[in-house]
Amino acid sequence: MTGLDAASVRQAATDCAFIGGREAVVEFHPCLSSTNDRLAELAAQGAVEGSVVVAAQQDQGRGRLGRAWASPAGGIYLSLLLRPDAAMLRRLPATLLGALAVAEAISLCCDREAVLKWPNDVQLEGRKVAGILGELTRDEAGHLLILGIGVNLAIPEDSFPEELRATACSIVSDPSQAPPPAEFLRALFARFEEHYLAVRRGGGVSILSAASARMPMLGKEVRIRLPERTVVGVANGLNQTGGLVLEVDGRREVFVAGEVEEVRPQ
Ligand code: BTN
Repeated sequence: MTGLDAASVRQAATDCAFIGGREAVVEFHPCLSSTNDRLAELAAQGAVEGSVVVAAQQDQGRGRLGRAWASPAGGIYLSLLLRPDAAMLRRLPATLLGALAVAEAISLCCDREAVLKWPNDVQLEGRKVAGILGELTRDEAGHLLILGIGVNLAIPEDSFPEELRATACSIVSDPSQAPPPAEFLRALFARFEEHYLAVRRGGGVSILSAASARMPMLGKEVRIRLPERTVVGVANGLNQTGGLVLEVDGRREVFVAGEVEEVRPQ
């Protein structure tokens, strides 16, 4: 597998108007602590939305809920800088949009159909192949959303930490069969940008239906674990911001976070 470099990362953004746009920063690092942290530094220095940081490895990759994100060679690790205004933020399913773009890039480049496990996982055959970490803050310019995306493109199985080997996987297990990472990145940027700009224009309904079509847990009875309680209900769909709508004892409840599992997995 030919690796990424600064030129191929820049090239991957050339079809995009927003990602890597005119004044945006595009950075590539062979190894970085965390692309989210680097992009936060760049944002503090005035980087505009559409800026992107990509790394071939991370040594302090972060996942949801304060977990570490294993980031060995063979994966793609990137963060996008977004500055939705308040109105857009109210209808932006950001994490879901990142996960959908990854799944679509997998279909386009690798001819495999990935599914979404709400709220932020992309899975192949029941194992996690990508994860999304959205970090929202405010600064003097308004909302700052850093969307981190980690994709296990072609990580050899023994490079995953032992405890992840049963639950994580790569898109391709044999690195010699992997699509060029720059090609994957290009598809991912293009899919993400199309969806993001659709939401910005006021659309986005098709995103929810495209995401729903990749969510096998919809229509099933699920258990959602929250810090303070566990709820069982039927997963009925997604609301406008990507919240999971459950029917619980005849009532409609919307969840914005939590660990979900099917009550009766197949
Ligand atoms: C999760 O599933 O828990 C989210 C994982 C997000 C990992 C990505 S890799 C690029 C970016 N930089 C980080 O430190 N984390 C995110």
